[in-house]
Amino acid sequence: MNFAHRHVLGIKQFNAEELNFILDTAKSFKEINTRKIKKVPTLRGRTIVNLFFEASTRTRTSFEIAGKRLSADTVNISASSSSVVKGETLEDTARNIEAMHPDIIVMRHSASGACHYLAERLDCSVINAGDGTHEHPSQALLDAVTMIQHKGQLAGLNVAIIGDITHSRVVRSNIDLLHKLGASVRIAGPKTMLPPGLERLGCKVFSRVAEALEGADVVMMLRIQLERQGKTLIPSLREYSRYFGLNEKNLALAKPDAIIMHPGPMNRGVEISSAVADGAQNVILDQVENGVAVRMALLYLAAGGEKQNHDADEGDIHEQLAD
Ligand code: CP
Repeated sequence: MNFAHRHVLGIKQFNAEELNFILDTAKSFKEINTRKIKKVPTLRGRTIVNLFFEASTRTRTSFEIAGKRLSADTVNISASSSSVVKGETLEDTARNIEAMHPDIIVMRHSASGACHYLAERLDCSVINAGDGTHEHPSQALLDAVTMIQHKGQLAGLNVAIIGDITHSRVVRSNIDLLHKLGASVRIAGPKTMLPPGLERLGCKVFSRVAEALEGADVVMMLRIQLERQGKTLIPSLREYSRYFGLNEKNLALAKPDAIIMHPGPMNRGVEISSAVADGAQNVILDQVENGVAVRMALLYLAAGGEKQNHDADEGDIHEQLAD
């Protein structure tokens, strides 16, 4: 397939065929991560800058590992250690980084649309690692790889997504991807954390968690995004946990073989009990593992995709270098 996207800004830009192509590409990269020598020459000579204006453990680390396993040169910049703290604008920061000729900038930013803003102004590829409350496309893709790993396919699945929906970029990307690939999405959370318009997106919306859990194949729990005014929207964390948390008792309403997902970071004892987070149905670390393969796929495709060959042997890479 001809993958004609230089940037990865959101799930919105992809159709079902393209999403399946990304998921298949990620699956082909997964095996590399279990080898003794976890490195292929695919992106040798390419430079990737991870520009993170917000905290991250999983996304930043896995983009870095993904780039390194593809032999790219990876550089990490966090806002706190950059000249942003001296007042430099996003555009000036990005233009200065681009003057050093990176091939791809992976960016996380608190402003929705920040990655689109850069993509319109820069010549290099831009990959969205989470922009405000807008999109987190690589998270939705790794969630999809994990659901397929455990359930075989997305089509026909009932996916319950529960928590702080208003402030979640993960949910926006997931709703779009799951609907495009044939799954049904149920949403539940406190009324103060349910944005208007979810039904128009094709979701079934519930104010009681039990209704969303009934017969679900997949349960995805989201944390309250306290850094985005979440705290003022609920009476107390204790009350939130009581009415909207996932525990062994209400999990029994889902299908017996339902899988439990969480994008992380988890707030144990708030949206999910430790018994469930560590229980037999959780696939949370599978999500993290699949994140590396998905990010390898996104870097590979943004860097030119099929023109590269991640299975290249020494002969092939010498030919590539000769070019
Ligand atoms: N899921 C996720 O985006 O985690 P991090 O904030 O740790 O990157």
